[in-house]
Amino acid sequence: MSEALAEQRHSPPPFEQPPLSEREFSAYQRLVYREAGIWLAPAKKALLVGRLSRRLRELGGLSFGAYLSRVGEDEAERVRMLDALCTHETHFFREPRHFQLLEQEVLPGWRAQGHTGGGEGRRVRVWSAGCSTGEEPFSLAMVLRHHLPANEGWEIDITATDLSTRILERARQATWPLDKAGEIPKNYLRAYMLKGTGSQEGRMKAGPELRALVRFQRVNLNEGHGVVGRFDLIFCRNVLIYFDAASKARAVERLLGHLSPQGLLFLGHSESLTGLGWRVRTVMPTVYAPRSSALEAAARG
Ligand SMILES: C[S@@+](CC[C@H](N)C(=O)[O-])C[C@H]1O[C@@H](n2cnc3c(N)ncnc32)[C@H](O)[C@@H]1O
Repeated sequence: MSEALAEQRHSPPPFEQPPLSEREFSAYQRLVYREAGIWLAPAKKALLVGRLSRRLRELGGLSFGAYLSRVGEDEAERVRMLDALCTHETHFFREPRHFQLLEQEVLPGWRAQGHTGGGEGRRVRVWSAGCSTGEEPFSLAMVLRHHLPANEGWEIDITATDLSTRILERARQATWPLDKAGEIPKNYLRAYMLKGTGSQEGRMKAGPELRALVRFQRVNLNEGHGVVGRFDLIFCRNVLIYFDAASKARAVERLLGHLSPQGLLFLGHSESLTGLGWRVRTVMPTVYAPRSSALEAAARG
């Protein structure tokens, strides 16, 4: 038998992606925007086809038109569709200058003064909004626990939220492939991560001390929030990049409403608020403090 024939016999039949008309694409654009604030530019048509085709096949080969009716009626399927469409890429200690700012300035300052300035003594509240598979909130947990020790009375409370229920389930497990260990500074890795054995060989898990600091919740940043109260630090990085100007403005307004007067808001590297007339001061590119904060007073000398 020739090699070409053998290959034909063993490879599965090619999957033909169902066609998506312009009218259907614009209906998906409107639906995704209304639900999640995410604007799918026309260039994203191929991405939508690629990311939804598998689900259409699982549902017995539905067309894009039939799937549109299905998600219109079935909320669970709508959540699933958004799961599939979102980009969840993330790393431990992504954008290291944000963590350097915490380690070198913010946390030593709080520790020296014995409080965060946010009015809750030694209790620190952090929100990782759009936390994906947990690398961001657990990076924060390591840095905060190291610099604000429990034996000095520091309480750390990290709320990690995402739109995607599937991704939150993974984040809750707090386990990752071992090849991600290289993203974590060695001292933190040794202190806070456990190496998997047996069925967990090749994986690592956050230790119980760290896991106790983080809780998870589904929150859609395009809607009213399910989170309550004010936070000393809000990380919302590489999420608003998918929003348009109007949905980004609404989400930032809500985030700022949850920031303590002395708090800091961290955005992703391409999500700057500069020049947009917000009531914020730029602490460093993509890190913002409310205008009236003590940090601003300190900066003025
Ligand atoms: C690219 S990941 C960023 C993860 C992490 N913040 C980081 O910077 O590494 C973006 C995350 O935002 C979530 N997301 C997208 N739209 C959202 C919305 N409307 N509300 C809440 N989360 C959303 C996605 O599910 C995804 O997990």
